[in-house]
Amino acid sequence: MKRTHYAGSLRIEHADQRVLLQGWVNRSRNNGGIIFIVLRDREGLVQIVVEPDSEAFATAEKVKSEFVIEVEGTVSLRPEAMRNANQATGDIEVVAKSITILSEAKTPPFLVDGTIEGDSVNEDLRLSYRYLDLRRPEAARPLLLRHKISKAIWDFLSSEGFIQIETPLLTLSTPEGARDFVVPSRLQAGNFYALPQSPQLFKQMLMMSGLDRYFQIARCFRDEDLRADRQPDFTQLDIEMSFVDQEDILVLNEALMAHVVKTALNKDIDIPFKRLSYQDAMNRFGSDKPDIRFGLELSDLSEVFAHSEFRGFSSAIQQGGCVKALIVPANHAANLSRKGLDALEEHAKTHGAKALAWLKNLEELTGPIAKFLSDTEKTQLQNLMNDGDTILIVADSWKKTCEALGAVRLRLAADLNLIGDPDELAFLWVLDFPLLELNAETNSYTYMHHPFTRPHDEDLARLESDPGKVRAWAYDLVLNGNEVGGGSLRIYQYDTQLKMFDALGFSKEEAQARFGFFLDALSYGAPPHGGIAWGLDRLVMLLSKTRSIRDVIAFPKNQRGVEPLTGAPNKLESKQLADLHLKIEDA
Ligand code: AMO
Repeated sequence: MKRTHYAGSLRIEHADQRVLLQGWVNRSRNNGGIIFIVLRDREGLVQIVVEPDSEAFATAEKVKSEFVIEVEGTVSLRPEAMRNANQATGDIEVVAKSITILSEAKTPPFLVDGTIEGDSVNEDLRLSYRYLDLRRPEAARPLLLRHKISKAIWDFLSSEGFIQIETPLLTLSTPEGARDFVVPSRLQAGNFYALPQSPQLFKQMLMMSGLDRYFQIARCFRDEDLRADRQPDFTQLDIEMSFVDQEDILVLNEALMAHVVKTALNKDIDIPFKRLSYQDAMNRFGSDKPDIRFGLELSDLSEVFAHSEFRGFSSAIQQGGCVKALIVPANHAANLSRKGLDALEEHAKTHGAKALAWLKNLEELTGPIAKFLSDTEKTQLQNLMNDGDTILIVADSWKKTCEALGAVRLRLAADLNLIGDPDELAFLWVLDFPLLELNAETNSYTYMHHPFTRPHDEDLARLESDPGKVRAWAYDLVLNGNEVGGGSLRIYQYDTQLKMFDALGFSKEEAQARFGFFLDALSYGAPPHGGIAWGLDRLVMLLSKTRSIRDVIAFPKNQRGVEPLTGAPNKLESKQLADLHLKIEDA
């Protein structure tokens, strides 16, 4: 006989059926003569009952947690009083006729029992035994959802005429702003491949080949500091389309996302998505990936303090910066203790602010800086506030001010529980990014997305005279305050691409040396084109409501870039080093 069902899939309608199940022993207990075994497989748990007179009893006495067993038996309705509404299989149990032990198991280093929370076990330990960890249905669930999402993407894009094409992993560096992972070549002594940071240049060249509509669920590699939403190797849904404008791309992505969310979660989302310009996103929410599930928007106080005696504020404005604030309403402000305010200031400082000033609107404005403000300034502030409100103020360059207050805004949302519905999916497009950004340290311009992003035609002339003012045809897709995708229309004319390299400080020779193959491709007739890449892991993380990107990857790296199960990365044997023409200096 072969397996008839997954243990976790049995329901009332299977009552009285003869079944054969195979899986792991989640728990087993001898209850005064009757043995209860909870059997686990990919789909969940089911209770097996072994009566003392059953021929399965002698074997059942031997089974221990994590043994792999086969159970033949009959599905039986549990007596009313014994039903468990919290368990998907809680209405039934399987009365065993026979049990076979297929594999014995050592005692695992942590309980795999479905009742434990993953969080209660050290994550490195779980990842070192990830095959045990993934036996927990809670841990396997994001991988099942991930599969559904990938399939929905394949189905939708195929029906829209997109072709899935793979691009090389051993390739040349693509500039996405991170460090490359490199692979030494044995055949080309002293030369290195770079693992792709994204398939950007290849997908553009596929458009130049006339393939018209491409997608790939593509592995990308970036050597950067790791965070809860970053992995060194991660997956993008990568898309590129020819003969389209920005609107075509946004509309396609909205329909695709609606299809994905419907298929994976059976949930309807509103399309079109809301849209915000980069300027508005920064000014109102202090972030280029705003969480719009709650208000608490920034106010601009630059006019109030333009000529203030309080130099902390006015000098920021005179140096081209601004003064902005968050007004915490009285009902929440009441929960802001002095200690809480100090903690918020520390948070603002770690996000670039020099200080976070605060004032409470009690009878009068009170707070450490009150004595430095004029009566007019105080009155103007009070006009913006209700009784009992607290205002939190930052003065600095525009970007630092926005970002520091944006970080405080998010911290307040968490501390004060401002996000109501945990199931809400707040999608948003952020548009009209600047093409270039001034790097204050080097005083040179660098790209905000990548060097292939198309500037607005009307702004082209400014590329030399006022590079910071050039707008890009670039867009980011944001979900609940996370950047889940980013893309742009691309430069498709050779001359414009050269101008862009020039604005980035590449000489013609440097551009030719590094991207000559790509400039060449542009010179043989390139269609107008554009695309996007979704961070697939991030999207699955948000849709599965897990807290870390590591929860949605089968074998992830830890925060230190180590894969705890295999121990990668590791040292090479001297023979391997010699083959690769490498010598290691002491680290
Ligand atoms: P970008 O660099 O914005 O664009 O990447 C697209 C999306 O990929 C996700 N992402 C990551 N996810 C996990 N770990 C990482 N280290 C990581 N880095 C990025 C983010 C991001 O929005 N070639 C362009 C796309 C294009 O222009 O078409 C690109 O790669 O969710």
